[in-house]
Amino acid sequence: MPTSLERAKITTLTLRQKKERGEVITMLTAYDYATAIAMERVGIDIILVGDSLGMVVLGYTTTLPVTMDEMLHHCRAVARGAQHPLLVGDMPFMSYQVSPQDALRNAGRFVKEAGMDAVKLEGGREVVEAVRVIVDAGIPVMGHLGLTPQSIHKLGGFRAQGRTARAAQRLIEDARLLEAAGCFAIVLEAVPDRIAELISKRIAIPTIGIGAGTGCDGQVLVTHDLLGLFDRFTPKFVKKYADLHAEMARAFAEYKHDVETRAFPTPAHTYTIDDAEFAALLDALSQSDSLPKPGMDSSAR
Ligand code: KIV
Repeated sequence: MPTSLERAKITTLTLRQKKERGEVITMLTAYDYATAIAMERVGIDIILVGDSLGMVVLGYTTTLPVTMDEMLHHCRAVARGAQHPLLVGDMPFMSYQVSPQDALRNAGRFVKEAGMDAVKLEGGREVVEAVRVIVDAGIPVMGHLGLTPQSIHKLGGFRAQGRTARAAQRLIEDARLLEAAGCFAIVLEAVPDRIAELISKRIAIPTIGIGAGTGCDGQVLVTHDLLGLFDRFTPKFVKKYADLHAEMARAFAEYKHDVETRAFPTPAHTYTIDDAEFAALLDALSQSDSLPKPGMDSSAR
């Protein structure tokens, strides 16, 4: 495996070439420096600083309250940790829906202020104008179709999309519109596998699936789901590769026990002072202790 220094920067062109060669694209979410470093080391192609941040890191019940400032703060941390993956910042709810100009201004902040290479936004035909304006300014845009969590109230919950012929046809049309508007890739979330495969074959840009089967050009998961760090609910499409929640609880309980029984810290975790220096200190302290204190009556000694 090439080291992170030998690895070339992943660009939107790299991703397009991967699709053409039939090579699968890997994408994960990250929200902090340490996680970004770990993903860089193993050569993940795309890191998405997703607005899932709101749910898995900040504890909101949906992604709707996430602000631009919260997104930019976490994007900066990720950008400090990973240089080679393509870094995508997720545009939060209401940062691109009001007007294309507003969308462009906010997309620009992800690049100028937070070190992102591209942005992602949710929706089909209704966001095409925003996509066009952002792409025209030179910022790559990733689309997101299917289950779009920012429309949770309109969709009636976190549920699979495109399960009727009519709904699936609309998804295919939206994918084509996003491609024509200049998107470099599209996330397909919670879409039946055969529909995701149809879309992937009908557009030239890569599709990245999450709960959309193996027919997509790449796969993405929310990292906290994959690591078993988010325990509120686990969607059907998540594969847990670790149970870090249980591991964290075990480590915290062991620490608490060690501190309470004085088993930690041991000499191995402790700084020392030279014997002669310590003796000199005690000597100096005993002399100063025997001196009269300011304001003390000497006859009282
Ligand atoms: O916010 C996010 O993490 C996402 C992924 C689910 C693609 O949009």
